[in-house]
Order: sequence, then C-alpha cells, then structure tokens
Amino acid sequence: MTAKSSSPIPPVNNQFTTTTHIIIMKVLTINGSPNHSGCISRALQELEKTLVECGIEVERIDIGKKDIRGCIACNFCREHGHCVFNDIVNEVAPKFAEADALVVGTPTYYAGSNGQVLSFLDRLFYSTSGQFDKTMKVGAAVISSRRAGSTSALDEINKYFTICSMPIASSTYWNEVHGFTAEDVEKDLEGLQTMRNLARNISFMVKAFKAQAQKEGIPKQERGIYTSFYG
Ligand SMILES: Cc1cc2nc3c(=O)[nH]c(=O)nc-3n(C[C@H](O)[C@H](O)[C@H](O)COP(=O)(O)O)c2cc1C
Repeated sequence: MTAKSSSPIPPVNNQFTTTTHIIIMKVLTINGSPNHSGCISRALQELEKTLVECGIEVERIDIGKKDIRGCIACNFCREHGHCVFNDIVNEVAPKFAEADALVVGTPTYYAGSNGQVLSFLDRLFYSTSGQFDKTMKVGAAVISSRRAGSTSALDEINKYFTICSMPIASSTYWNEVHGFTAEDVEKDLEGLQTMRNLARNISFMVKAFKAQAQKEGIPKQERGIYTSFYG
C-alpha cells in the first residue's frame, strides 16, 4: 500500500504542520530508582535514544533519591490545584500536562514497584486529576529486576494509566530488563531490544493520536457519576 496524503501518520518523522504551526511530540521519562546510573537508567537510555531517532523530544527526571512522602488524603489539591507538599511532584505536574507520553521506570522491590515510585505516582495522579485531561496521553511502565516480581510491578504502574484514559504502550515482551547493575542490563540483549521496540511503539502512538486529535479532538469523557454504594 502506498502512502497517501490523507494518511493519519505525519509524513515527517517527528512533527507535522498544521496551517499555523509545527507540533513537536514530547515524552517525559521518570527514573524511579535511587541508582542514578543503574538498571532502570540503562533501560531508559535505550528507549530515549530510540525515541530521539524517531524525532521525539525527551526529558528525563530522576526521582529516586528525592524526599517524597505519600499522599495523606487531605484533599488540599482539590481546592488549590496542586499537592500540599511542594516537592518534585509539583515540579513534574506541569511537565506531565505538556507531555504526549509518560514513561515510568521502577526497579522491582519485593515483587512490586519501589515505594518511592508509588508515593510519587499516587500524589502526581491524584493532585492533577482535576487539573488537566490525560485522555490519550500514552503511558508506559519500564521495570527492572534481578530475578522475579517484575510483572507485578508492571501491573501496578499500568493501573495509574488505565484509570484515566491513557492508552498503554507495550512491546515485544513485557516492558522489562533484568540485572543487578547497568552492566548486567547491557548483557540483556532481549531486554534492550524490548526497550527499542517500546520506544518505536510509543512514537507511533503519540504521532497517530496527535494527528487524530487535530482532526476530531480527543474522545469526550463522560464525568460526574460516582457509584460508591454509600448513603
Ligand atoms: C529493597 C530491594 C528489594 C528488591 N526486591 C527484588 C525483588 O523482589 N525481585 C528482584 O528480582 N529483584 C529485587 N531487587 C533487586 C532490584 O530490583 C534490581 O537489582 C533492579 O534491577 C535494580 O535496578 P536499579 O539499578 O535501577 O536500581 C531488590 C532490591 C532492593 C534494594
């Protein structure tokens, strides 16, 4: 099949032009590991390099050693539009609002995501839930483990995306690498391949979604019905 000008996929790799301006796609990557140059970092590096090759702009944020406390359910954010704790969560929120995709990397701790990442995501998603629409922003989890428990962590991260109409990007294996150090991950050739394919899939999705959004807007989400079985 030959490409036609009506194709929803933009002809230029990273951008497409509307009558008035050029649109650049942006992906925000989060390294949730306390190891700045560890396994998650190596996995994200492979993904980021491929995204850039696809013409996507990338910004990485390290949260692994930040002082991030959990959500205290005070609902300050409902009134003020940002979390009561003025830390990295409030710094990332506007970047998330701007991004076309969010990639969250976490090492596996006791067969789940690390606590740091969960505290960060609880507060990021909750405090921004009334602030901007996440519909059709692409979400992807990237997990590293020495040996086991990675798929539970993957499930945990994906649930943040699937409660707010964010389609999940997948790859040719679950989005994971294996190792205890970045050098181990270097030898996990399939893991790195999975990251490259994940990046290409994210690139395709954000370009296709943006093109469709330009034509028809993002799908309207019905709101207002909360069935909690009380009262
Ligand atoms: C507190 C803690 C718990 C861990 N639990 C697991 C686990 O359940 N399964 C596993 O395979 N690796 C476990 N690991 C190892 C790390 O998940 C693994 O080495 C990971 O790839 C490290 O990534 P990083 O270098 O980006 O921090 C654990 C490490 C720590 C510090």
